Amino acid sequence: MKIFLDSANLDEIREAMSWGAIDGVTTNPSLVAKEHRNFFPLLRDICETVGGPVSMETTHRDSVGMVTEGRAFSKLHPQIIVKCPLTQEGLKATRQLASEHIRVNVTLCFSASQALLAAKAGAYYVSPFIGRLDDISTDGMELIRAIKTIYANYGFSTQILVASVRHPIHVVEAAKIGADIATMPFTVLQALVKHPLTDIGLDRFLKDWEQLAPAAKAAHVPTDHPQATGQRPISAGARALAAREKKAGR
Ligand code: E4P
Repeated sequence: MKIFLDSANLDEIREAMSWGAIDGVTTNPSLVAKEHRNFFPLLRDICETVGGPVSMETTHRDSVGMVTEGRAFSKLHPQIIVKCPLTQEGLKATRQLASEHIRVNVTLCFSASQALLAAKAGAYYVSPFIGRLDDISTDGMELIRAIKTIYANYGFSTQILVASVRHPIHVVEAAKIGADIATMPFTVLQALVKHPLTDIGLDRFLKDWEQLAPAAKAAHVPTDHPQATGQRPISAGARALAAREKKAGR
């Protein structure tokens, strides 16, 4: 499963990239507004930083406005995926943009019937918002299962991008179901890494290491080790082959 960061904050995006953790980014108008920067330069900076798909949402209710804005987004950078809402106008815009080979992420999906229509309109991604469903006492993960079944039944190529992810269990469950992508805020990405036993284990190892005499620590790389001699390490197989060749006089 691919992991996307749901953020328009360049510091968060750079940090997550440095872990090798993320394959792309999703944004929305609320996330972009938080950054207080000119929209297009910010979007371009995000694309340059990520080197993968970056979703940005159109800000119109009518399909003509969505299509016009979507075309402008797609000209800004080849990595842009245009987000259209799951409304009748959004489906119309999706169909038009898809016919122009512009990739569309159909967003604000809350039901399996909506997801079916997104796929039929030619969506590249569909974004079911599971956290917001959980918030109103509806099982968001059940929606992911239903969409997965429907898309498999009919061979739709639309990818399921699990959105509105609130905690690590959402991510793990989405991966077990076989969702294509999960997008999450930076706090959830950090929570995926964190384990108290890892922290306790590392503290113990480093404390024990402190007990070793300084002279013993300084000499812990053997003098004949490739790291010390500057030679490249060779595998046992390569060593055996070299010995056989030497014996055969080659
Ligand atoms: C996805 O593309 C959305 O930006 C996002 O997942 C919404 O999440 P929220 O419900 O936490 O705002």
